[in-house]
Amino acid sequence: MTSADDVPADGVVPDDLVTRLRAAGCVFAEDEAALLVEASAGDGGELERMLARRVAGDPLEHILGWAEFRGLRIAVGPGVFVPRQRTGFLVETALRDLPAKAVVLDLCCGSGAVGAAIAAEAPGCMVYAAELDPAAVASARRNLPPERVFEGDLYAALPSALTGRVDALVVNAPYVPTEAIATMPPEARLHEARLALDGGHDGLDVQRRVVSGAIEWLAPGGRLLIETSEHQAPLTAALFEAAGLHPQIARSEDLDATVVTGSRQV
Ligand SMILES: C[S@@+](CC[C@H](N)C(=O)[O-])C[C@H]1O[C@@H](n2cnc3c(N)ncnc32)[C@H](O)[C@@H]1O
Repeated sequence: MTSADDVPADGVVPDDLVTRLRAAGCVFAEDEAALLVEASAGDGGELERMLARRVAGDPLEHILGWAEFRGLRIAVGPGVFVPRQRTGFLVETALRDLPAKAVVLDLCCGSGAVGAAIAAEAPGCMVYAAELDPAAVASARRNLPPERVFEGDLYAALPSALTGRVDALVVNAPYVPTEAIATMPPEARLHEARLALDGGHDGLDVQRRVVSGAIEWLAPGGRLLIETSEHQAPLTAALFEAAGLHPQIARSEDLDATVVTGSRQV
C-alpha cells in the first residue's frame, strides 16, 4: 500500500501503485500512476484516496479534475461528460475554411472542450458556448471566458444578438439511442450525466432540434457541424437536407469519428 511516508516528493512513481492500477484493469497503468502522483503533490493520503476512487471505477479525468483534449487540459467536474479524442475531428473539420474572426458557437458544450480547442487553434475567432446542465456549465466557465458560456435549453440559452451571426455552429449533442446506454462502459454509464448520453429512441432527438433551429442563428454561408456515429450519419444528414442545409458526411477512420456539415445559403 502507498502511504503518506512513501510518496516521494520528486514525482517518482511507486511500483505498487502501478501494480494496483493494473490489477484494477487500467490499461495505461504507468501513465495513470504518474498523473495521480503529480495530482497528489506529495500528499500520500490524497494519493490513496484518488487511487481508491480509480480502483472503484471513477473515470481518471473526474479524479484529476481535467481531461487532455487536443493538447489542452480541460477542466471536467464530477458527472460532466469527459471529452473524447474522437471529437478532435469535429474541431479539425470546423477549423477547415473557418473565416478569420469567425463567430463560433459550441452548442451542447459540456465542459466546453470543443470551443476551447477552437479558440486555442484559431485565436482570432470569438467562441460562445451553451449548455443545459449546470454542472457542465460550471466546468465550461473554467475553460472558456465565463461571460460567453450560456446556460439553458439549446438556442433558448442564447442572447438574441447572436441571431444570424454564427459562422460555425459546432455540436456534439447526445446521440446514443436510449436502449444502447446499458451497453456503454461503466465509466460513462455510471459517472456521466444521463443528459449527456441519451439521444432518445433513435439517438437523434437532440440533433433533430439542433438542426431544425440552426438557420436562424447561422450567418449567410455559416456552417452547422454535428458529430454523429457512422451508422447514424445518413439519418443525421437527412435532417440537414430537410432543413435546407445541403449535407456532407466527413469521416476519420483514424479517430473513428463522423461529422455531418451543411451550410446556410449565402
Ligand atoms: C455528448 S455530451 C458532449 C459535450 C461536449 N460537446 C463534448 O464534446 O465534450 C452532450 C452535452 O449536451 C448537453 N445537453 C443535452 N441536452 C441539452 C439541451 N437540450 N440543451 C443544451 N445542452 C444539452 C449535455 O448536458 C452534455 O453536456
